[in-house]
Amino acid sequence: MERTFLMIKPDGVQRNLVGEIIQRLETKGFTLVGLKLMSVSRELAEQHYAVHKDKGFFAGLIEFITSGPVVAMVWEGEGIIASARKIIGATNPLSAEPGTIRGDFGVTVGRNLIHGSDGSDTAKEEIKLWFKDEELVSWQPTI
Ligand code: CMP
Repeated sequence: MERTFLMIKPDGVQRNLVGEIIQRLETKGFTLVGLKLMSVSRELAEQHYAVHKDKGFFAGLIEFITSGPVVAMVWEGEGIIASARKIIGATNPLSAEPGTIRGDFGVTVGRNLIHGSDGSDTAKEEIKLWFKDEELVSWQPTI
């Protein structure tokens, strides 16, 4: 079954949106298989965002992601990578559709509440980077 990595960023945690965000994925019908509140080291943040290391916003992005706790999650379900990105909305919250997480709760690209893996290779890499195998629980809803 397909899995993706989602991370509620420090702004999502500080604005008390953790429950709201998890609820949107749960009620859609996806399955939570990994969850932890954690501080992010500079090393982990730089590894996670390595693809953006030459961008002008990189230093600010690392500063921000390491500024307060995040909620790291792995979710499972058919088509979840693309579907979660739809639920999250466009990177810039001002362009994100109403009804999406960023469209409903955000206004600033640097404070866009949540990160979601953008493809299957990235999802595998990010899950491996953020979670140990034993931190993930394989289970299937029976209802
Ligand atoms: P995310 O999906 O986590 O992936 C890369 C992040 O870089 C992105 O969300 C934004 O939060 C951030 N980002 C992208 N463009 C900019 C920008 N122009 N200024 C600041 N941050 C940005």
